[in-house]
Amino acid sequence: MPEPTTSPPIYKDPAQPSEARIADLLARMTLAEKIGQMTQVEKNSVTPKAVAKYFIGSVLSGGGGSPPKNTVAVWAEMVASFQQAALETRLGIPILYGVDAVHGHANLEGATVFPHNIGLGAVDDPDLMFAIGQATAVEMRATGIHWNFAPVVSIPQDIRWGRTYEGYSEDTTLVTRLAVPYLQGLQTPPENWSGGPIYVLATPKHYLGDGGTAFGSSKTINIQPFLLDQGDTRLTEAELRALFLPPYQAAVEAGALSIMASFNSWNGDKLHAHHYLLNEVLKGELGFEGFIVSDWQAIDQISDDYDAAVVAAINAGIDMVMTPYDYKTFIDSLTRAVNEGSVSIERIDDAVERILRAKFALGLFEQPFSDPALVEAVGSQDHRSLARQAVRQSLVLLKNEHRTLPVPKDTPLIFVAGEGAENIGLQAGGWTIEWQGKSGMITPGTTILEGIQAAISPGTQVEYNRFGRFDQVFDASGQPAIADIGIVVISEQPYAEGVGDQADLTLAQADSDLIARARERCQKLVVILLSGRPLVLSDQLPMMDALVAAWLPGSEGAGVADVLFGDYPFNGRLPYTWPWTNDQLPLNIHNAQSGEALFPFGFGLLEE
Ligand code: BGC
Ligand code: BGC
Repeated sequence: MPEPTTSPPIYKDPAQPSEARIADLLARMTLAEKIGQMTQVEKNSVTPKAVAKYFIGSVLSGGGGSPPKNTVAVWAEMVASFQQAALETRLGIPILYGVDAVHGHANLEGATVFPHNIGLGAVDDPDLMFAIGQATAVEMRATGIHWNFAPVVSIPQDIRWGRTYEGYSEDTTLVTRLAVPYLQGLQTPPENWSGGPIYVLATPKHYLGDGGTAFGSSKTINIQPFLLDQGDTRLTEAELRALFLPPYQAAVEAGALSIMASFNSWNGDKLHAHHYLLNEVLKGELGFEGFIVSDWQAIDQISDDYDAAVVAAINAGIDMVMTPYDYKTFIDSLTRAVNEGSVSIERIDDAVERILRAKFALGLFEQPFSDPALVEAVGSQDHRSLARQAVRQSLVLLKNEHRTLPVPKDTPLIFVAGEGAENIGLQAGGWTIEWQGKSGMITPGTTILEGIQAAISPGTQVEYNRFGRFDQVFDASGQPAIADIGIVVISEQPYAEGVGDQADLTLAQADSDLIARARERCQKLVVILLSGRPLVLSDQLPMMDALVAAWLPGSEGAGVADVLFGDYPFNGRLPYTWPWTNDQLPLNIHNAQSGEALFPFGFGLLEE
């Protein structure tokens, strides 16, 4: 019997074990094809044609990286155009398309935007995390995207850091408890799925020491001066491991196949070139079999000599490089390094194997494109209900005197003030539609004010003025009316990453004035804070009868009203220590003054 010559190669046969498929495919690859797999490019910096020509392994959308028309269909077309090009290459290896769906697929207009992680840390519900992971994954898959640069498993120790809200908590155990079910929610395929064992690839980030940088240690050049972001984490090895390693260990055990390296240094050494922490600890000790992706242009920071930076990063264990712009220089550099022997072919093969492992696990060779049937899941009622539930559960009641909350629905007159009361962008924060986020009605959802208007009894009068000016509202005798309840929404302007690093977290004078103005026109004052971290408001606290931390709730602002008017109880507890004064910072459970907090970690009034 002659050998059958037409049977498909092993790597294309889904019936074969994936390790056999990886080995078969790797044996067929040229050096250029291998290095292409290790290259990740930002979508505006590469064309589909170039993806094919350079065998690019991955394309990403950075923060705000939407197509010109921000709809599900156009996203799906854009991703498919890159995918199609990759499939037409000699070996037809599909690309991985990655995006930061860190609180829902929030670059996409109309997607469900979940509360940022700080709010989910206040909820502390692993089942909810799994459900959010699943909903996010489905909305991503609708656009053909199967790789999420999430969960963030940073453990922020200093709330002056602009990425505080991306972290669930300052407490390691809480972070681990929430990150793992979220990762499983992303990765677990839905019932009718015929692809691979992983539905959407999760990426715990940023490894290692993220959130531990010392104030003032950030030496970032070229961008605006940062205070903590991308700085130096100064701890002994025992401290570093105890504080930051557990979520990675748990994520690896739960099946993580991709981890992002961190911009920060550890005691002066860049993580992106840290052979010991990447190769020995993560891949060796923890047994991580997936791939390590570098962060945005991060390897450029290793050395002024780009070639040296590439060699150091790859030899330290980086498997895929988020170039993100100038991929040709990267490819040339790594090719030269291999030809000169400064990076071994074994290291290249190891990196490619790890990347292919994730691609096979995703079932990309069988199902490279989006499923048009999923379009309806994007921003669906089910997903929005889930997000609204998360909002309700995330609210932390910090003060409640004179039985102010819950507000009776038949309260005759309610004044509402603050731009955050009617602003989806402010309630969603950074990483929403744009990298830095943006104030305004940037994506569909419900505002806090809409929630209030929907919750009250028909006879209740609600007056909204952004600036808290209610001079035109009079009582029956023609005097300026005094509302029974005033609700002031105080909000931070959106920010992301080091742009949000801030030395002084004291409430702005304008906010303080707004609270004072509203105070004069109501009997009881409720303050709702929309913020990515605790703010210093001790001076204003005496003016408030009630104070609620609502974090960055996302698109479903009406969830705030659900609790204000007593349809649901308060539930959240502080995932971060709340300082009295700015001078106390950094203040957290790990330092001696934590007992002197305004509100300690874990604090949250519950309904009697
Ligand atoms: C991108 C972000 C990225 C940032 C890094 C921005 O232009 O949109 O995704 O994180 O640059 O500096
Ligand atoms: C951020 C990462 C993000 C990447 C891509 C970087 O600036 O640090 O968290 O995944 O950009 O947007």
